[in-house]
Amino acid sequence: MKIIAYGIRDDEKPYLDQWSKDQGIEVKAVSELLDEDTVSLAEGYDGAVVYQQKPYTASVLDKLASYGIKSLSLRNVGVDNVDADAIKRNGFTVTNVPAYSPEAIAELTVTQLMRLLRRTPVFDKKQAAGNLMWAPDIADELGHMTVGIVATGRIGRAAMRIYKGFGAKVIAYDVFHNPELEKEGIYVDSMDELYAKADVISLHAPATKENEHLLNDDAFSKMKDGVWILNPARGALIDTDALIRALDNGKVAGVALDVYEDEVGIFNTDFGSFDAIPDERLKNLMKRDNVLVTPHVAFYTRTAVKNMVQFALNNNKQLIETGTAENVVKF
Ligand code: COI
Repeated sequence: MKIIAYGIRDDEKPYLDQWSKDQGIEVKAVSELLDEDTVSLAEGYDGAVVYQQKPYTASVLDKLASYGIKSLSLRNVGVDNVDADAIKRNGFTVTNVPAYSPEAIAELTVTQLMRLLRRTPVFDKKQAAGNLMWAPDIADELGHMTVGIVATGRIGRAAMRIYKGFGAKVIAYDVFHNPELEKEGIYVDSMDELYAKADVISLHAPATKENEHLLNDDAFSKMKDGVWILNPARGALIDTDALIRALDNGKVAGVALDVYEDEVGIFNTDFGSFDAIPDERLKNLMKRDNVLVTPHVAFYTRTAVKNMVQFALNNNKQLIETGTAENVVKF
C-alpha cells in the first residue's frame, strides 16, 4: 500500500513519519496542495490524504480518479470546499477528522471573547504608548451574560463547557437536538429567539447553502444592542458588509473572527506589511480596537495537528483495505 499526503507542513511531518514507521506503510509527503499542477504526483498511489482551504475542483478530482484513486482522506473536518458532484460521479469515498480537538477551537473562541470583554488589546496598545490609565476602558463580565451557541456539535459543546465554567448562562439553537442538552433545557426554538436573548453569539455551524450569510442585516437588527459576535467556524456564515454596518452603528460591541468569507489566498500568507494585505474590507475590520482577527488558527495546536495527521492516515489505510472507514462523509 502507498499513500500520498498533500500540503504537508513542517509541523505535521514528524507525526506523519512516525505513523509511516509504526505501520510499515510508505507515505509520500509533498508540501504542495492538491491542484491542477500537482495532481499528477498521485499517479501510482492507492490513496490520498489532503488538507487545504482552497477548493477541491471537479477537474482535479476527475484526474485523481483516472489514476485509480478512490480513497480520499481529509485531515480536517469541514467539507464545504469539496465538489460533491465530482465525488459522487467518480465513486470516491471521503473521510474527514471530525474530532481532532474540538477543545482547540473552543479555547481560542473563549480566549478572544475574554480579550474583547476585558479590553486587553486596548490596554496593550495604550501601554505601548506609555499610557497606563484605566478609563475609559471599563470591562464587562462574562459571568453575567447569556451566551447563544449556534450549533451544538462537538465544538459548540466544548465551547459551552468553558462558558459555563465562567458562570455564563448558555442557550443554544440547532436543528438537531443533543439529548443531554435537551434535558438541560438549553435549546431555544428559533434563531430569532436566540438573537433576542443572547449577549454573546458564538457560531459553531458548518457552512451550508442554507446558512450562507446567516448573520445579515436582518439578523443583526434582531440582536440586542451591544452584542458580541464570535466566529471560529466558517466565513460564509457572516455577511461581512452587514457586520461592518453593525459595528459602525454600535449594534455589535465587538467581534472575534478566526474565519473570513474571502480568506482563501489571504490567510496563512505573509504579505510583509499591513498595507500590503490585498483586502480592504478585511483591513477595515482589522484596524478596529473592538475587532480581533486571527487567520484560521483556532485548530492550530500540537494536539490537533498530531490527531489530524494520524487519524486521517488511519482512515485512509482503512479505506484502502476495506473500502470503508470510520468518519466517512456523506455527500
Ligand atoms: C476544519 O477542520 O475544517 C478547519 O476549519 C480547520 C482547518 C483550518 C484545518
